[in-house]
Formats: sequence, C-alpha cells, structure tokens
Amino acid sequence: MPETDTVLEERHGRVAVLTVNRPDKLNALSQQVRDEMVARLAALEHDDDVGVVVITGAGEKSFVAGADISEFDGRTPLDQRHAMRSPRIFDVMSGFPKPVIAMINGFCLGGGCEMAASCDLRVASDKARFGQPEIKLGLIPGGGGTQRLPRLIGHGQTMRLVLTGEMIGADEALRIGLVETVVPHEELRATTLELAARIAAMSPLTLRIAKEAVNASRELPLEAGLRYERDLFCLCFSSEDMAEGVRAFLDKRPADWKGR
Ligand code: COA
Repeated sequence: MPETDTVLEERHGRVAVLTVNRPDKLNALSQQVRDEMVARLAALEHDDDVGVVVITGAGEKSFVAGADISEFDGRTPLDQRHAMRSPRIFDVMSGFPKPVIAMINGFCLGGGCEMAASCDLRVASDKARFGQPEIKLGLIPGGGGTQRLPRLIGHGQTMRLVLTGEMIGADEALRIGLVETVVPHEELRATTLELAARIAAMSPLTLRIAKEAVNASRELPLEAGLRYERDLFCLCFSSEDMAEGVRAFLDKRPADWKGR
C-alpha cells in the first residue's frame, strides 16, 4: 500500500469506507489518489472481513470535484494516455466483486460524477451538486461519462449534462436517476453506513452473483440477459448459502451465511 494519506480507510463492521482526502483541492483526483484507490480496492477485494465498500470525500464541501486539472497543464496526448492506463479506478469500481456505494457529500463533478456512476448505489447529501463540466475546459468526459452515464440516466439527460457542463442539485439528480437516495446533509453518513451494513449482512457469494447479473444487463440483449440470469439463478442452488437461506426462512430464524 502506498505510504500516503490521500486516501483514508476505516472499518465499520463488514463495511470499509475509503475517503479521498484532499479537501483543500475539493478532493480532485490526482494520479496519486487514483493509484491509491486502485491499490486499496485490490486489497479490499480479497479481504473476507469486508462485504461492502463505501466511497466518499473528506470535508463538508466536496465528494470529488473531478480530475486534478493542474495535472493536465502541458501534457502531451501520450502523457495523458499513460495517465489513463489500466486498471482505471472507474472500471475497478464497476467490476468490483462486492457492492460499492458512493456517499456523496458535496461537489460530484467530472471524474467524481463518473466515479459515482461506476458505483452500484449512490446516496447523496441534499447539499451535493452534480455535473460533467469538462466541456468548459475544452474536454469531454474521459472516465465513462459518455458511456456509463447514458446507461444510468439516459441519452437525453446525459447530453444535457455533457453539452452544457452545468451543475444540478441533489433533488434534480434524484429525479433523473443519477442518485438513488437524497438525505439531509447531517444524516448522510448514518444513512449510508446503515444501508451498507444491511447489504453487508447478506451472503457475500450471493451479492457477487447478484451484482454480476444486474451489470450484465448493460451489455447483453434481453434474451441473452434473461438466459444468463436463469443460469446464475440455478447456480445459486449449488451454494450452501442458498440451502441455509431457504432452511432459515422455513425455520423462522435468521440465516447464518458462510459465503459458500
Ligand atoms: N482540479 C484541481 N484543483 C481543483 C479542482 C480540480 N478539479 N477543483 C477544485 N480545485 C481546487 C481549486 O483550484 C482551489 O485551489 P486553491 O485554493 O489552491 O486555489 C480549491 O480546490 C478550492 O476550489 P475553489 O474553486 O476555490 O472553490 P469554489 O467553491 O469557488 O468552486 C467549484 C468550486 C467546484 C465550482 C470549482 O472548484 C470548479 O469548477 N472546479 C473544477 C471542476 C471541474 O471542472 N472538474 C472536472 C475536471 S476534468
């Protein structure tokens, strides 16, 4: 793990919270932050004590205000291509085998909005502001904003955000499906951690299969997706956790998941 404090990590039971920690720069995604996030997620992926990961930004003002613009200055296309090398944080989050929740505490712009769109669920403070402002820099989104965003909020709303670069508030983000939940700012942390804990209490094996099934809908035509869902559904019948879940229901007791 890199020896820095640009990403903080804490644990709440089976929930790990990763906090981008550059509040004086509104938690802009520097190369160092991206590398550290990727490294920390790689470690969390193999940590059986972690069921769900929550991503947030330090301070009261910002989740992540996009890529660190100061790093763009004077860059050649080849420099930029190197900076965008795999594994990219956005792909790591969306392909992460455990649920990832964005806890959006303020500005959620550019790469921050793309990070949120790469998560499985988004809980926002009522003070959060969202946008893809790259157009104002002579750029376009480069972290999935033109590809993941339309799959989340649709073609037209994505065009509006990408072509105008304008910010929208939390209520509008909720209305267009950019976030699933909006809560008063003071309740953001408690609400998100409570949601994360509820999910982390499920079978980690079944969570992984469920995430894979829903994500497949982004790529597969309906018929193929339905066949894939049926196969994964039947695969669950091979797990100890499915036998336990059914038995626990019939016995009227809580299930004791083994992750197998
Ligand atoms: N990259 C690098 N630095 C950033 C940044 C970014 N994306 N966003 C904010 N910062 C820095 C500012 O330069 C400033 O640093 P300084 O104090 O050393 O001058 C600090 O964070 C605070 O930002 P500031 O602009 O003073 O705050 P504000 O409340 O007036 O405005 C924003 C907030 C979000 C509207 C404004 O910071 C902004 O437009 N940021 C860029 C957003 C963006 O275009 N993201 C996409 C990048 S591709």
